[in-house]
Amino acid sequence: MRVRISHLTRKAKGVAHRDEDREEDILRIGRATDSEIYLPDARVNLVHATLSRRPGGFFIEAVGASTIRHNGASRSSAPLKIGDNVMIGPYDLTIVAPAAGEAIDVTIAVELVRAQADDLVALRARSRTSIEETGLRKRSVSWALSIVVFVLFIALPIAGFFIPGLNEWSRKLPVAFDHSWDSGPASDSHKFFAGDCSACHQKAFVQVRDSACLACHAKIEEHAPHDVKVAALSEERCAHCHKEHTHNDAIIVRAQGFCANCHVDLKKFNSKSTVADIGDFFSQHAEFRPTVVKAVETKKFERVSLSDKANLIEQSNLKFPHDRHLSERGVRGPNGVRQLKCADCHEPDRGGVGLLPIEMTKHCADCHQLTFDPRAPERKLPHGDVASAVGVIQDFYAGLALRGQIEEESAPASVRRRVGQPLREEEKKEALAWAETKAKQQMEIILGTSLCKSCHIVEPPSAQNPSWRVKPVKVVNVWMPKAIFVHAKHSTVDCTHCHDAPKSTQSSDVLMPSINTCRECHGGENQASRLPSPCAMCHVFHRQDLGPMRPDFKKTAATGN
Ligand code: HEC
Ligand code: HEC
Ligand code: HEC
Ligand code: HEC
Ligand code: HEC
Ligand code: HEC
Ligand code: HEC
Ligand code: HEC
Ligand code: HEC
Ligand code: HEC
Repeated sequence: MRVRISHLTRKAKGVAHRDEDREEDILRIGRATDSEIYLPDARVNLVHATLSRRPGGFFIEAVGASTIRHNGASRSSAPLKIGDNVMIGPYDLTIVAPAAGEAIDVTIAVELVRAQADDLVALRARSRTSIEETGLRKRSVSWALSIVVFVLFIALPIAGFFIPGLNEWSRKLPVAFDHSWDSGPASDSHKFFAGDCSACHQKAFVQVRDSACLACHAKIEEHAPHDVKVAALSEERCAHCHKEHTHNDAIIVRAQGFCANCHVDLKKFNSKSTVADIGDFFSQHAEFRPTVVKAVETKKFERVSLSDKANLIEQSNLKFPHDRHLSERGVRGPNGVRQLKCADCHEPDRGGVGLLPIEMTKHCADCHQLTFDPRAPERKLPHGDVASAVGVIQDFYAGLALRGQIEEESAPASVRRRVGQPLREEEKKEALAWAETKAKQQMEIILGTSLCKSCHIVEPPSAQNPSWRVKPVKVVNVWMPKAIFVHAKHSTVDCTHCHDAPKSTQSSDVLMPSINTCRECHGGENQASRLPSPCAMCHVFHRQDLGPMRPDFKKTAATGN
């Protein structure tokens, strides 16, 4: 049979049709693209129905569970005659008589009459206004709009740069002139002045200059020592690393690649660099090198790797066995045995960042009392100043001698006399001479053998140095100055997990944790199984131990470079 399939589309100006002739015995009707009558809509089945010619005429038959409506009634099959209407999903198929003279058996008109709701199509259908309908010509409107855009968004903002006060005045308007060039939200830290574009954009059509940033951040520190020449540090503008207008996204670079880019090979900047090459905290980061005191008097500090056990010795000049104080059996104090905790001596500072320094009078003196003579159990030596302690000892024995009644075999009669008995001048001299000797002997014991010496390195008087000396003490407070470490953020971890203090027998032990302890929790930036830790989590970029990044800033500001 020869069939003409006529697809109808209704437009504003009439009905359009696209005809297609086919010579088939059976026509498939459906959503499958190989259907002879192709109905592309989700509500039509892949093969929905078939159309065929039988002896009695044309015949339509639903395939499988599909349904068709024939002249309004639901059917699974029906004979067709001219004028019949078949509904398949959203389509109407109408059987039309072929035009006279054409070699066609039947024409089927197909029309989508129940399209799925399409907002855009609906909207387009409703708004048919064109420029022509407003009575204006396209060309003149385009020109007018271009001029408005030019004036508002180019001329006025530029004028604002050159005409003093214009931009300030425009801030009263809903949108200030120069804000029309705003390329994104300012970072939170800069929000308070971000409306004043010229605070950073000092010159029109010139990139943001360092002098703008340095006006507020004058003291920003260098990253590498000045004698290490790194073009990216000395020549790049602040804005090269600190982007604006992306809220807080880019004002600070936190990606580890930024650091690793240089740090995987520092030798390219400084062939003599003693700093280890580092690429990732987990897979490529050197063992820590805490800064250890080697000699207090000469202020000699040394960075010693925690893996260099032979050199890992601290010389603070203070004796202290952690083990004896942390013994499980407790430690004897004035009020009986006590179990000491770390926090009894290591108290967090107010911000919780660091720990307060150890103080003898606060942390030790309860148990290590500086009493020195059983005849005066309440009398204590002052701490921290050798001369005062010596003075107190001398005064004490002089006082005893002058008072009398000292029950010591070796003492002269004047010192052993009854209290209240007056002393002659000769006797007084004799008593004071005894007191002096006695004080000297006591100092040998108090300073040189027991009390002070139990904690300090004490030097007795010598030919060159006639007075007692206690070697200066330096208890390091910051062991790893090249990184940041915040105790408060690790309060859930037991102190002894990082510091094996209970096993330390002397203060020369270095109790700092190895990098492997940190790696139990901290991974590199991309470690999924651990806390992702980019370099900037533990390090600052502008290092406070170095001078300003742009030391000649005042000069550059003056010359305007
Ligand atoms: C805190 C300083 C600061 C302020 C304030 C500031 N900008 Fe910027 N702006 C920058 C930096 C930094 C860049 C990056 C340019 C570069 O690399 O030299 C930039 C870039 C731009 C650019 C170039 C496009 C881009 O995204 O790189 C435009 C345009 C711009 N700013 C407009 C403005 C306008 C308008 C204002 C006032 C509403 C303003 N800026 C205020 C710092 C600032
Ligand atoms: C009007 C003064 C001013 C100017 C100009 C200025 N800043 Fe700031 N900036 C601040 C203040 C205030 C803060 C917040 C306090 C702080 O962290 O020091 C800040 C913070 C920052 C921060 C830290 C942001 C953070 O989220 O931690 C960076 C980085 C910075 N500024 C870089 C720049 C750069 C680069 C420029 C030049 C394009 C610049 N600043 C210009 C005042 C200024
Ligand atoms: C442009 C290259 C460059 C970039 C980027 C860079 N550094 Fe450095 N860094 C250096 C140089 C050079 C030194 C000095 C090396 C020396 O003293 O021999 C240095 C020194 C250091 C030091 C001190 C090392 C020591 O033992 O004295 C640390 C820590 C450090 N950088 C960390 C970082 C971190 C973290 C970042 C990323 C936020 C970073 N660096 C980005 C080049 C760079
Ligand atoms: C009775 C007081 C006292 C107690 C309790 C105490 N410490 Fe100390 N700690 C000190 C003194 C004093 C120093 C300084 C002398 C030295 O370097 O050993 C010190 C130094 C340290 C240091 C740095 C010195 C180094 O060599 O690394 C660490 C770490 C430390 N203690 C951890 C602990 C921990 C952890 C505990 C609890 C398990 C603890 N301490 C309990 C008094 C105490
Ligand atoms: C709770 C009481 C107590 C506190 C607090 C205490 N100690 Fe001790 N300390 C002792 C006792 C008890 C001994 C003797 C333990 C032993 O020999 O087993 C001792 C022993 C020592 C020794 C060894 C003395 C020697 O002759 O070998 C030193 C050094 C020392 N303490 C220093 C300190 C310092 C420094 C502090 C303060 C940071 C301190 N102690 C705080 C009770 C205390
Ligand atoms: C229980 C241990 C202990 C005893 C006993 C002790 N000290 Fe100290 N001494 C310390 C500690 C801890 C420091 C450092 C912290 C401080 O200054 O409080 C220190 C600091 C000092 C300093 C200051 C050193 C400096 O360089 O800053 C002097 C001086 C001093 N002691 C003298 C003495 C004298 C003299 C005696 C004996 C009368 C004595 N100490 C007994 C623990 C002790
Ligand atoms: C996650 C590991 C970790 C834990 C847990 C930890 N620390 Fe530390 N601690 C460190 C590191 C790292 C440093 C070196 C920081 C610096 O000085 O740069 C340090 C330094 C110290 C110092 C010497 C510096 C100073 O400020 O005196 C003492 C003392 C100390 N810790 C005591 C403690 C005590 C007490 C606890 C338990 C409350 C504790 N730590 C828990 C890692 C740890
Ligand atoms: C979890 C904390 C942490 C992370 C993450 C971290 N570091 Fe460190 N880094 C440290 C500590 C702690 C030290 C020892 C500091 C000291 O010795 O004063 C150190 C030391 C260094 C040193 C000095 C090395 C030397 O020769 O002694 C450099 C350089 C350095 N880190 C760079 C980096 C770079 C680059 C990254 C990122 C790829 C990074 N660090 C990531 C904690 C960290
Ligand atoms: C038991 C797990 C654990 C260990 C071990 C550990 N950390 Fe952490 N650390 C954490 C967690 C969890 C945080 C995040 C805490 C937060 O953001 O509140 C953190 C945060 C930090 C921070 C960021 C602090 C800040 O201001 O946001 C630094 C720096 C750091 N750790 C360094 C270290 C170093 C160095 C070591 C080894 C000496 C170490 N950590 C060992 C769990 C650990
Ligand atoms: C080579 C890249 C680079 C250059 C150039 C640079 N910075 Fe930074 N700056 C950083 C990085 C990375 C951080 C964040 C790391 C951190 O937390 O310290 C930072 C942090 C800051 C901070 C906030 C933290 C702090 O240390 O106070 C300020 C403010 C800052 N920079 C200002 C400036 C100024 C001003 C200049 C120009 C003189 C400048 N920076 C040049 C990389 C750079």
